[in-house]
Amino acid sequence: MALVNLKQLVSAAFHHGYAVGSFNVVNMETLQAILQVAEEHHSPVILSVAEAHFPFVDLEEFSPILLRAARKAKVPVALHLDHGQSLPAIVTALRNGFTSVMFDGSTLPLEENIAKTREITRMAHAVDVSVEAELGHVTGGEDDTSPGVADPSLFTDPQEAELFVAETEVDALAVAVGSVHGIYQGTPELDIERLAAIRDLTGVPLVLHGGSGLSNDDFRQAIAAGIAKINVYTDMSQAAMARIRTVDTLPQRLGFPEFMLLVREAIQEAVAEKMQIFGSVGQCN
Ligand code: 13P
Repeated sequence: MALVNLKQLVSAAFHHGYAVGSFNVVNMETLQAILQVAEEHHSPVILSVAEAHFPFVDLEEFSPILLRAARKAKVPVALHLDHGQSLPAIVTALRNGFTSVMFDGSTLPLEENIAKTREITRMAHAVDVSVEAELGHVTGGEDDTSPGVADPSLFTDPQEAELFVAETEVDALAVAVGSVHGIYQGTPELDIERLAAIRDLTGVPLVLHGGSGLSNDDFRQAIAAGIAKINVYTDMSQAAMARIRTVDTLPQRLGFPEFMLLVREAIQEAVAEKMQIFGSVGQCN
C-alpha cells in the first residue's frame, strides 16, 4: 500500500463520507504508535510533522525513518508537513520526500495568502506533492496548555473560500468553524452550516484542525458537511502524559525502554479511538 499523496487519501474520504486522521509525529514512539494502530485497524493515515515541532524532530535526520516506515506500511500513508509557515520549511519537506505540505498563510491578508499559497501549489504540484492551505484562522498553537475559545470574527468566509480555492488550486482547505488547537475552554460549538456552505462552494475536501476535545456528534456532523481530514495532537500528548504520571504507582519498577512502551500504548489507545470515530477503520481492507 504504502506512501501516497494527501489528495488520494482525502478525496476517497470526501466521496465516501469518512475522515482520515492526521496525527502529529514528534518522536519514534508517536510514529510507531500511529502506524501500528493504522495497520491493526486497516485504516489510511496521515503522519504529520509540524514546523513548530522541528526542535524535537530534525527533519533531515528523521525523514529517512518516516519514509521507510511509510513505504513498508500495510496501509496507505501520506507524509505531511503541518503548519508550514515559511518557504524554507516547505522546501525542506519537499526535498525530504514528503507527499504533502500545508502552507499556513492564515494570518496574512487574503491577497497575500492567495499569492503565497499559489506559488507553493505550483511548485508542489510539479513534483506530485499535495497542498493544504488555511483560510480564516484556527487559534491556539501546538502544545498550547492554556484553554482556548474560538473567535467567530476569524471564521472562514464561504465566498472567500470559493475564490481562494479557484485561485490557488489547493487539494484540501483547512477552515475555521469553531475548533481551536489545544484544550477547549467550555464546550466548543462548530458552525456546521458554514462548513456545508464552504463545501458546496469549493468542492474540495475540508480539513478540521483542533480535533482534540470535540464530541463524537461534532465529528459526525463535520464529516457529513465536508470534513475529510482531522488533525489530532493534544489528545495523544495528554494520554501520554497521563500514563507517565501512573508510573510510580505500578507494582513493578520499569526500565526506560519498558517505560517508553507504556507511553506508546497510551498513544495507541488515543489514536485508535479517533480512527473509530472518524470512520476510517476498515477503509483499506
Ligand atoms: P489538537 O492539538 O487540538 O488536537 O490540534 C492538532 C492540530 O490541529 C494540528 O495541526
